[in-house]
Amino acid sequence: MRKNIVAGNWKMNTDLVAGLQLAKEVVEKSSQLSDNVSLIIAPPFTHLALVAKELEGSKVALSAQNCADKEAGAYTGEVSVDMLKSVNCQYTILGHSERREYYGETDAKLVEKIKLALAKGIDVIFCVGENLEQREANKHFDVVTEQTMNVLNHFSAEDMKHIVVAYEPVWAIGTGKTASSEQAQEIHECIRKVLAEKFGVEVAEETSILYGGSCKPANAKELFAQKDIDGGLIGGAALKAEDFIQIALSF
Ligand code: PGA
Repeated sequence: MRKNIVAGNWKMNTDLVAGLQLAKEVVEKSSQLSDNVSLIIAPPFTHLALVAKELEGSKVALSAQNCADKEAGAYTGEVSVDMLKSVNCQYTILGHSERREYYGETDAKLVEKIKLALAKGIDVIFCVGENLEQREANKHFDVVTEQTMNVLNHFSAEDMKHIVVAYEPVWAIGTGKTASSEQAQEIHECIRKVLAEKFGVEVAEETSILYGGSCKPANAKELFAQKDIDGGLIGGAALKAEDFIQIALSF
């Protein structure tokens, strides 16, 4: 059975004090959750080591929001997967549309990053999603298929045990505009089909595919009830522990 996952992407929000407080509240409230959902939080790099301490002994896992495409050395400003590993990070988000759009993250770079993460035992939340122009031109299925395969073609069925896919339509991120549950479901189904063609039905059925884009307590239940939606990657609503936990309680 594939895992249900709710992951909080804090983006560039919270200073250290506020971040630790938020992590603490998430841990406290996570005791309300049953075992049918895994909870992950992805604070900024500066918070990871101390947030990891807050998460000790809890059921909340720790993720980074990005990692370097190089192993170590003279790469000023970068953070390596070994560094993430050393602060007990279990996951990293990769390929978020904000990274692709504002920081020129290419498919080729993403392949390198995912390879490094998996080699070091860090699981990956790999993001795909079309922008508004592509959706309006009715190209969303093609765009998402291409984004998914350009990168995942370089990986094996075994690697897929450590990769979660997140579908995040760019037009729904931080806009308050959520994809309808039908719009999200049909893309998730398409992603699962593409995974089945490449890796086989069994791998596709075992891969968690999360929805992201203005997911909140009010719409999570309907989204998560869809056959191919296995949880959410949550931005804005992950900055309030109560909302984040309410979303996780929507399964
Ligand atoms: P949002 O962000 O929930 O604020 O729309 C989601 C994301 O970008 O991961």
